[in-house]
Amino acid sequence: MILVTGGAGFIGTNFVRDWLAIESEPVLNLDKLTYAGNPENLAALRGHPGHRFVQGDIADRALLARLLREHRPRVIVNFAAESHVDRSIHGPGEFIATNVVGTFALLQEALDYWRTVLRQDPGFRFVHVSTDEVYGSLGPRDAAFSETTPYAPNSPYSASKAASDHLVRAWHHTYGLPVLTTNCSNNYGPFQFPEKLIPLMIRNALAGEALPVYGDGRNVRDWLYVADHCTAIRAVLAGGAPGETYNVGGGSEMPNLDVVHTLCRILDELRPRDDGSSHEQQIAFVKDRPGHDRRYAIDSSKIQRELQWRPQHSFASGIRKTVQWYLDHQDWVQHVVSGEYRHWLETQYGATGEVKP
Ligand code: NAD
Ligand code: DAU
Repeated sequence: MILVTGGAGFIGTNFVRDWLAIESEPVLNLDKLTYAGNPENLAALRGHPGHRFVQGDIADRALLARLLREHRPRVIVNFAAESHVDRSIHGPGEFIATNVVGTFALLQEALDYWRTVLRQDPGFRFVHVSTDEVYGSLGPRDAAFSETTPYAPNSPYSASKAASDHLVRAWHHTYGLPVLTTNCSNNYGPFQFPEKLIPLMIRNALAGEALPVYGDGRNVRDWLYVADHCTAIRAVLAGGAPGETYNVGGGSEMPNLDVVHTLCRILDELRPRDDGSSHEQQIAFVKDRPGHDRRYAIDSSKIQRELQWRPQHSFASGIRKTVQWYLDHQDWVQHVVSGEYRHWLETQYGATGEVKP
């Protein structure tokens, strides 16, 4: 059994679905179901004997203690977080509550479980999924972030993730908990909540709405197809050394405006506008994000060298698959945007929100 937290969010959903498609080991999926957690993502797993979903908060120590003792996972993979930079600027409180206090609670309960129930089994793993944003912002010619780049977080989101990474590091150095941390670049792919750049642009383009590009659109991100991130986490779980951190990137650095142009061109081909003009005419430059990091780039040579991981998708192949997925799942987008999936949750799972396998 593995315990996955945040497994109803974007990356967690992809991770759980991929895991159950490949492995025979069951998954206990703990997710608070915030606005970003969507049980509809897991509908295909209904009745799957290897999937058990529990609605709950990683900051709830009594719940964690009970789940760990009842299910005795050999691994914890922590995806649970508040993840959207813009939301962290408007309201940082939830980011501190989940990313900092929640990670602290999870570490404390994992440590107690590892010590008392597992009797310090050296095979136990706690994988903490973090971000490249903890390293701050790069200039155009700066070297990419490596595992030894000093932390310099700039947003409430990245500061809260940096704090959680430091806690994870300390629980290894002080208590010996077998933790591993991954610092990953921008993911894209199926099930991403349409508040993030790529799904938001696809949705707005199809709805005939403006495509809001922050500032001059020249901020650079390194794009990683989500399935490649999931294989990286599995590689770290299988072969990573406790106490180590691994940078994970797609090797696809690109200015935001180029991403948006690429999306417009694919949509022009697959779903042309009624008037025959390009979706590019919907692009609108808007006020910049406060403190907007200019460039992220990841040096993932360590995980490539030590764990033989490589991304299997180029940006060209991953983005085409992603656009096609959103075109094929317009109902999913509509439910998310309309908030209908909240009602679906109550109808489907009742008041407890717990999915019985
Ligand atoms: P997401 O916002 O799509 O999903 C987060 C999930 O965590 C949701 O299902 C939510 O309900 C759940 N959650 C939030 N607070 C919780 C709590 N207190 N207890 C239990 N569950 C809770 O996020 P994502 O994009 O899937 O990111 C997953 C992880 O990967 C995060 O830790 C994020 O920082 C990290 N990360 C994301 C990216 C990216 O590009 N999306 C890149 C690098 C790292
Ligand atoms: O780098 C990893 C991080 O990537 C993760 O840790 C975060 O959880 C994830 O949300 C993502 O953060 P970003 O801020 O880079 O992603 P976002 O999709 O919000 O924005 C990507 C870029 O696009 C960024 O430069 C801001 C810009 N942008 C975003 C939105 C939503 C726009 O220009 N317009 C928009 O409407």
